[in-house]
Amino acid sequence: MVDRQAWAEVDLSAIRKNARALAALAGDDAGLCAVVKADGYGHGAAPVARACIEAGATSLAVAFVEEGVELRRAGIVEPVLVLGYTGEEGARRASGWGLSTMAVSVENARVLAAEAERQGKVARVHLKVDTGMARLGVSPDEAGAAAAAIASMPGAVLEGVCSHFAAADAADGEFAALQLSRFTAAVDEVRKAGVRGFVRHIANSAALIHVPAARLDMVRPGIALYGLRASTELEPPYRPSPAMSLRARVVQVRLVPAGESVGYGRSFRAGRDARIGTLPLGYADGVSRGLSNRGSVGFPSGRAPIVGRVCMDQMMVDLTDLPKVGQGDVATVFGPGGPSVSEVADLLGTIDYEVVCAVSKRVPRIYSDSRMEEDLA
Ligand SMILES: Cc1ncc(COP(=O)(O)O)c(C=O)c1O
Repeated sequence: MVDRQAWAEVDLSAIRKNARALAALAGDDAGLCAVVKADGYGHGAAPVARACIEAGATSLAVAFVEEGVELRRAGIVEPVLVLGYTGEEGARRASGWGLSTMAVSVENARVLAAEAERQGKVARVHLKVDTGMARLGVSPDEAGAAAAAIASMPGAVLEGVCSHFAAADAADGEFAALQLSRFTAAVDEVRKAGVRGFVRHIANSAALIHVPAARLDMVRPGIALYGLRASTELEPPYRPSPAMSLRARVVQVRLVPAGESVGYGRSFRAGRDARIGTLPLGYADGVSRGLSNRGSVGFPSGRAPIVGRVCMDQMMVDLTDLPKVGQGDVATVFGPGGPSVSEVADLLGTIDYEVVCAVSKRVPRIYSDSRMEEDLA
């Protein structure tokens, strides 16, 4: 990626700071399982995982087996839980690489256990209970029998019983309370069935921060590790530090006379003689086309509106009101010095998650780490 002129900066100190704040909220009784799926929400799974472990995380979670394998290949030895569905081939890999998996049904657990047994191992399984997400898992009233069945399988050990919230980010906590009560009832059934020694977990970032009763034995925050909003309705009790910034250099400035158009479809017409700067970032890099003629980027001297349609590899910004900005200057698409991730998400009518996850592999990640400043603070 020589001469790429566009990059995403990831501040690992910010990740550690967020992880420490979340670990403090979780308290001594709940382990911190750092969710680093989707390449650490676009930030880079292995560096984020290491930063979280340094900050007190005791385990990691990913969506798919291959993401767990990636962590193992990067030398990460801590427990890794695969949150999504794992089938037969995945079971083989999960067992080989020492990954814990989710059992979404007794049949699924049988597949996981059979594969582990074949390898002379034991599958570490978490029983997923569907308490209101309608996505994966057994019903709360099936949980006792399912857990007992899993615990009796020679190739499996029931490491956890878990669920997932649908609306822990809502100011109205009614549905979260209902889900938590369904989960508590399911756990009671599991215990009544004589199964012991498992961890209970249900809390994503929003629940960890806003539903203290949901912290239980382990919490699974993702978005808050990255310093982004777990809720648009509730404020966390600490100051989040957003970790990612997306930046690019102006590679050319074109003078566009009044009345001429900019970009595909001629969707922007210069109302005056304009200075148009080109940035080598487009929708294939994760800058949404929805920002065309709507978003802006930051320079030290101010904001420049995005004009014309965002292209696949490039985008144009109006520099007319920023006369000092020229070729080689750095634009901030999001991050300090430009719009925040949340500002971009709000403009696009989406959530912070999507903005950072969209930043594609083509954009080099540059890691910074102000550990010394952190130590002195
Ligand atoms: C099962 C599960 N647990 C935890 C998380 C982390 O959620 P969040 O990023 O909202 O903290 C996710 C993410 O979607 C998830 O799917």
